[in-house]
Amino acid sequence: MTSSEKVDYDALIPNNVGLADDPKLRRALEAWHPGYIDWWMSMGPEGFQAADVFLRTAVSVENEGWAQFDYVKMPDYRWGILLAPAVEGRTIPCGEHAGEPVWQEVPGEYRALLRRLIVIQGDTEPASVEQQRFLGATAPSLYDLRNLFQVNVEEGRHLWAMVYLLQKYFGRDGREEAGALLERQSGSDDRPRMLGAFNEETPDWLSFFMFTYFTDRDGKMQLEALAQSGFDPLSRTCRFMLAEEAHHMFVGYTGIRRVVQATVEAMEAAGIEDPYDLEAIRPLGVIDLPTVQRKTNQHFSLTLDLFGSEESTNAANAFNAGIKGRYHESQLDDDHRLINDTYPVMKLVDGRFRSVDVPALIALNARLRDDFIDDCQGGVARWNRVIAGAGIDFEIRLPHVAFNREIGEFSDLNTSPTGELLTDDEWEAAVDEWLPTVADRAHIESLMNSKFEAGEYASWIAPPSKGIQNKPEDFLYVKLP
Ligand SMILES: [Fe+2]
Ligand SMILES: [Fe+2]
Repeated sequence: MTSSEKVDYDALIPNNVGLADDPKLRRALEAWHPGYIDWWMSMGPEGFQAADVFLRTAVSVENEGWAQFDYVKMPDYRWGILLAPAVEGRTIPCGEHAGEPVWQEVPGEYRALLRRLIVIQGDTEPASVEQQRFLGATAPSLYDLRNLFQVNVEEGRHLWAMVYLLQKYFGRDGREEAGALLERQSGSDDRPRMLGAFNEETPDWLSFFMFTYFTDRDGKMQLEALAQSGFDPLSRTCRFMLAEEAHHMFVGYTGIRRVVQATVEAMEAAGIEDPYDLEAIRPLGVIDLPTVQRKTNQHFSLTLDLFGSEESTNAANAFNAGIKGRYHESQLDDDHRLINDTYPVMKLVDGRFRSVDVPALIALNARLRDDFIDDCQGGVARWNRVIAGAGIDFEIRLPHVAFNREIGEFSDLNTSPTGELLTDDEWEAAVDEWLPTVADRAHIESLMNSKFEAGEYASWIAPPSKGIQNKPEDFLYVKLP
């Protein structure tokens, strides 16, 4: 590791990118900083800016000991610019330049393409903070409240990460894009965030856990693909972001597992075996499993749309250019050019879903989406083990890839979660079984009452099996002012 990779933690903006030796960039970032703080104060977690939160802050980029835990008021969080260490002799992993040394500067011919990818990634980071800003008031415990804020401050840091790339490598238009990232707003009519799922509401904690399980995992897949970039600063930025992202998906996975656990334990205690007996289950103050399934259907399908059209020349161009790789590109065993390869993409052919071989280069979105679906399965299987362990006959399933889609191959179809094609009337008649209903939302809403005593948990969620940093059960994760 060279000295420039050591984290300068005393600077106004903590960094390991040598900001102290780059006055022009430092000035640009320092000029952007007040707008960021304004954004955080007005669009960040509502009502808790003065609380002391037990947060993790990245202080190094080593594999071990990269984070420090302490009480911090969120506006004082040390948002920094941290790149994973450079890999000696790294080469462009894919496309027409495969095998050539990675770029340390933006290759002129790919400038627009690269800037667009960075802006799209950057836009999602503040968007999720905006979507989650009202959740604090209904947190089911201080542990969960702390986890929400941890995710929020790190999404803020991810915005810094993308803004660094824009300011350092893209001159005036990079500066403009950095400003615009603070101007668009999730759900806004005139200046919405760039991607659909990031303009939806996250109105309750089950939605938050679903979001962090599914939608943060889309983020992981995109970051994994960008971590393979031949533009080395982007690769290093994304590699370090992935270290933080893992916790976000942990929050989602364990959150839903704890919801399921609370439900089956309450059912067992009340002697209820039928998971569909909502009239008996809901008064127990838990979220019934069919509602968990409907929320799963909703968030999974919405997240699949983030992968874009199955066949995409933009995706092919980014790969060909060596700007964006496949998931685990450097570990894949092929020529990394894909000129003559094919990839099987699910399509509707003569009224039936079939795998159709298409040129691999244009099927990269479909491929990344397939990798995402695989990555989703593990947690779902573990939720189901909790249900089976309680002797309840119910299985949470990921819906068919064509279910409830707005983008790509299946956007004009009506299909059931198991992939049967339906007429409009059949869809209308059954949709309440498959997607959250007004009554589901009202029930969830009725459970969203805060528990702010240390060690207390709302009835609808089980305590975690272990505390953050192995803290005891009654640890005060957030000190309210
Ligand atoms: Fe992020
Ligand atoms: Fe995240």
